[in-house]
Amino acid sequence: MTALLSIRDLTVTYRRDGGEVAALKDISLDIAAGERLAVIGESGSGKSTLALAVAGLLPASARVDGKIDWPGLGHTPLGGRDIGFVFQDPSASLDPVMPVGKQIAEVAYTHLGLGWPQAYAKARTLLERVRLPDPDAALHAFPHQLSGGQKQRVAIAAAIAAGPKLLIADEATSALDTIVQAEIVALVRQLVAADGMTLLFISHDIALAAELAERIAVFRYGGLIEIGAARQIVSAPRHAYTSSLLDAHLGLDAEPLSLQAGTPT
Ligand SMILES: Nc1ncnc2c1ncn2[C@@H]1O[C@H](COP(=O)(O)OP(=O)(O)OP(=O)(O)O)[C@@H](O)[C@H]1O
Ligand SMILES: [Mg+2]
Repeated sequence: MTALLSIRDLTVTYRRDGGEVAALKDISLDIAAGERLAVIGESGSGKSTLALAVAGLLPASARVDGKIDWPGLGHTPLGGRDIGFVFQDPSASLDPVMPVGKQIAEVAYTHLGLGWPQAYAKARTLLERVRLPDPDAALHAFPHQLSGGQKQRVAIAAAIAAGPKLLIADEATSALDTIVQAEIVALVRQLVAADGMTLLFISHDIALAAELAERIAVFRYGGLIEIGAARQIVSAPRHAYTSSLLDAHLGLDAEPLSLQAGTPT
């Protein structure tokens, strides 16, 4: 299968307080067109840095070595058009003083060259697709009038409004309660399948990753520890660290390896 994108020897270092933090170390991996890949790992393992690097959203304090090519796209991706990004906190990506319909319509207006009436019609369709209870009312709602789950649905609608090839969800369900989380995961799966999008799903939750993704990449301290079919990763992990994540999830072991004494933090 053609790789949508190909990451080679990617190293990202942040300058901070006069020092440097190596957030990603020599990462190479391909993401196939149409596949659902999950990246898992503990806090600080470099998951968001990878997502931001792919989306071209790293801050100026980041030094990047290595490269990301897009053979499956054929051109340099444009954020918002070729890549949709859903963050953990929808309030961070939504404008608090703009009706949500306008925020979604703006993406369609900017990237699809639609006129405003068509862009609003598209926004309404999208609000229906992400299953907002009353799409007509939701068009005119402000973010603070919506629940956390509804805000995340709106953020997803905005992320897919321009028909991106790649959808990146960085801990997009982590702040939600279990039931809403399951609903949003089901919604993402359905939208990705319907639109033929490629999914980069970032989570610290190995069970959630296995539910949604075909392949799982396990990160630790900025390194790629192992990558394989989701089924294999959860049933027969090759690396002890992945086993410890699984055990921690199943409650067999109170803490993942790196939190135990004697391992670096
Ligand atoms: N803007 C930044 N400036 C300096 N250091 C950063 C910056 N962003 C991340 N880091 C550091 O880079 C490393 C990787 O962070 P990153 O946010 O990619 O991890 P993560 O796996 O997404 O963690 P989490 O699960 O907490 O979201 C960490 O040591 C973090 O402190
Ligand atoms: Mg993160």
